[in-house]
Amino acid sequence: MNKKIYITRRIPNIGLELLKKEDISFDMGKSKVSPNKKQLIKILKKGKYDGVISFLTDTIDKEVMDSCPSIKVFANFSVGFNNVNIEEAKKNGIEVSNTPGTSGLAVAEHAVALMFALTTRIVEGDKFVRSGKYKGWDPELLIGTDMKGKTIGLIGVGDIGSQVAGMLHHGFGAQILYSDINQNILLEKNTNAIKKETADILKEADIISLHVPLLPSTTHLINKKTLSTMKKSAILINTSRGPVINENDLVDALKKKTIAGAGLDVYEFEPKLAKGLSKLPNVVLTPHIASARDTARNMMSEIAAKNIISALKTGKVINSVIK
Ligand code: DGY
Repeated sequence: MNKKIYITRRIPNIGLELLKKEDISFDMGKSKVSPNKKQLIKILKKGKYDGVISFLTDTIDKEVMDSCPSIKVFANFSVGFNNVNIEEAKKNGIEVSNTPGTSGLAVAEHAVALMFALTTRIVEGDKFVRSGKYKGWDPELLIGTDMKGKTIGLIGVGDIGSQVAGMLHHGFGAQILYSDINQNILLEKNTNAIKKETADILKEADIISLHVPLLPSTTHLINKKTLSTMKKSAILINTSRGPVINENDLVDALKKKTIAGAGLDVYEFEPKLAKGLSKLPNVVLTPHIASARDTARNMMSEIAAKNIISALKTGKVINSVIK
């Protein structure tokens, strides 16, 4: 095809092989971290690329787009695409895609794992044993709580939220409450889920799990005010995007025991954490690894490459995020 793209970080071979088959050459960043904006602009200016496979850690804004006018497509290697200025891409006729349907199972399992980590106090138990504090069985040691019979509040029931609902309803008899811009009739049929206003879910659920994209309307959805409406025993899980939670407000609520605990895979200013977060005993923290499975990563690589190929062949990506 005689086209050239830039891939900002290493991706699994499956995508690279697809590009090679189509005669699309590529340069690929070798670093474990994304280039910063200045570095990216320099690379793109020099390379005169036709497309880019970008990551959620790359800022793709007007300046980046303007730096290399030959770019026709940014294929994001993730489901989320809040790192790309979609309006600007639209204005410039640049295609933008994501990787839907690739990591739903992995992220749903991770959200459930975070829930269990908190209800079973498994991380605290591990630390306790490793630190030599375990002196023998104690009927009052690290008392957890059953998942069975809990009310789970899901904020957003796309692919990931729906899979969480299925796992918890069918596996543990949980009652599912959900909020979403759309009614999910299939979910209601399969799991007896009940659609409610987000405000009511926050008040009623034992465990609240966030599965919304990052939008102006979802930024700081969880804040001092909404946290104060939750049960004192509530657990909050976030595997979506960090800024959906005002992290300082969350730290404050956890310190004051306004809610019981939180399981986070994403952070408002990642990789930085809000002051005091890592010192709290009632949180379980993972480093944005919910989709880190070989199955998901291979699919992400394949889909990102297919979107590039399609855009360079036909002018259109397969998984457009531009409405
Ligand atoms: C996504 O796909 O958006 C995840 O957050 C990263 O894999």
